[in-house]
Amino acid sequence: MCGIIAGVSQRDITKILLKGLMCLEYRGYDSSGLAIVDKYGHIKRLRCLGNVKKLKEAVEKDNLIGLIGLAHTRWATHGIPSEINAHPHLSDYIIVVHNGIIENHEALRKQLISYGYVFSSETDTEVIAHLLHFRQKQKDRPLLEVVLQTIPKMTGSFGIVVMDSRNPSLIIAVRKGNPLVIGCGKEENFVASDQLALLSISNKFIHLEEGDVAEIYSDKIKIFNIMGKIINRNKISLNVNCEITNNKGIYSHYMQKEIYDQPLAIKNTLKGRCNNKEINFSELGVNISAFLKKIEHIKVVACGTSYNSGLVARYWFESLARIPCDVEIASEFRYRKFQVHRNSLLIVLSQSGETADTLAALRLSKKFNFIGSLAICNVLYSSIVRESDLYLITKSGIEIGVASTKTFTSQLIVLLMLATKLGSLNGMNLELQYNIIKSIQILPHRIEQVLKKDKLIQLVAKDFLDKNHALFIGRGDHYPIAMEGALKLKEISYIHAEAYAAGELKHGPLALIDNRMPVIVIAPNNELINKLKCNIEEIKTRGGLLYIFTDNNTGFIEKDRNMKIISLPYIENITAPIFYTIPLQLLSYYVALIKSRNIDQPRNLAKSVTVE
Ligand code: G6P
Repeated sequence: MCGIIAGVSQRDITKILLKGLMCLEYRGYDSSGLAIVDKYGHIKRLRCLGNVKKLKEAVEKDNLIGLIGLAHTRWATHGIPSEINAHPHLSDYIIVVHNGIIENHEALRKQLISYGYVFSSETDTEVIAHLLHFRQKQKDRPLLEVVLQTIPKMTGSFGIVVMDSRNPSLIIAVRKGNPLVIGCGKEENFVASDQLALLSISNKFIHLEEGDVAEIYSDKIKIFNIMGKIINRNKISLNVNCEITNNKGIYSHYMQKEIYDQPLAIKNTLKGRCNNKEINFSELGVNISAFLKKIEHIKVVACGTSYNSGLVARYWFESLARIPCDVEIASEFRYRKFQVHRNSLLIVLSQSGETADTLAALRLSKKFNFIGSLAICNVLYSSIVRESDLYLITKSGIEIGVASTKTFTSQLIVLLMLATKLGSLNGMNLELQYNIIKSIQILPHRIEQVLKKDKLIQLVAKDFLDKNHALFIGRGDHYPIAMEGALKLKEISYIHAEAYAAGELKHGPLALIDNRMPVIVIAPNNELINKLKCNIEEIKTRGGLLYIFTDNNTGFIEKDRNMKIISLPYIENITAPIFYTIPLQLLSYYVALIKSRNIDQPRNLAKSVTVE
């Protein structure tokens, strides 16, 4: 993980680096640092434990000014979060920031110690700085040459930016596994882990590809491959409104804003793809229907919340399109000896498009005979999008809160459209198709209705102030929604939460039930409601605390203090999993709020997980 930004300009860049770094905090926020070279060629470095706000205060206090510099926000892998482990790391005149892991750092460290190097941190990154310095010292050569010769000595995955304070006109960026993008400005150029961090200086970007090494000056950029051969990379123009990223508006947290963004995020994601009669994916190419018709199996691979959306989609692919589907956690899939079914489509789901395990799974799939790969992603030009055969972008807008909300429901709507499209190609009857489309089109309105339950859910959340555990249960396509509800609660409130398929309770979890164990039941009015009611009785008779999220018409009555009914407006069955996600997001949000958690930046987590 970790976020990098660096630049070289004709003007002071410290404010630009700090502003950019703030946009990268989703990649880690346990410590941060910045180094600039001042007009006398001196390195000025400041590092802080904690997030970028602290660093900003320190930089302002010291009045740092420089035309060239590097900055970093960290998610600790090697070495605890602390000031000494924060980047940038130095070796005399060499300055380095790094995202990723140097797997052979122990051996390199030993070697460097034997050469007399003294390490001041526990990080793998410091090895890079000393190694570059060592090779530079052997024979004074251009920094590029030293970098190119040093890269093969390091194993693992990394994005690094390097600078030599004796030549304060050049920075070098290396992409080997972790993303880096160059922002091309006027008489200045920057590089960062994500273009988001560069929107204030440019809308022209060059995405580095695997193995690229870029020499970046204020007035020119040269890109080389690992062999040192100059290569050409396209410059793309992007029009993204920077303010979207930094504006919480009337909301207290990004997560709260993003929960409320959902009707619009879904409307935007549907735009141009869903008319009254059919789903239109012409963006996938003119021959797309013929391609989709060939699909006989679907394999979905993802991590975290994206994995949960894949689990919901499996129900849709199998019931609507009659295509068998399996869903796998990327970090498991890539190390398993799997079999590929005939005409199997690989779908990779990722909000960020940079998750290391999902990206590795996609790369691995190319060695197997999948019929093709399709990315469903929120970030155009992300690595996963660029490396997939086909892609569909969710139009949720930028998501800042570490806990995914609007990107989950937008992924789901794309997956539902895809299942409907596949169904229509596989002979789904027209009436069913029209009904699904109607349900999809009315969903943003339905979500606006369920958001009105905000106050009620806020009241319910108070019950969780003293709770340390919770169970979530659901059946059918709402079982993955229970999983997502549990994930949200644990990641932002730190309550231990587990999800179970309601029918599984008697196979173990019932032993946990007593009057201190809240059980959150997702109980839409569908064909499984009577089965679910039996499971609810089993909990009730054992004194469990029930919180039943349900439809007005399911007939639940609050009979005693151990049972709370959260009555929700009407929702069509097909879109109910998306709809029921919303109150669970609100519940987690309000529980975290009353527990005074850091909602947008929960401890130990990061939004974009670029290490495996
Ligand atoms: C991290 C984030 C989660 C996200 C997961 C997968 O764990 O905190 O919110 O669901 O990564 O990320 P992706 O970008 O691939 O969807």
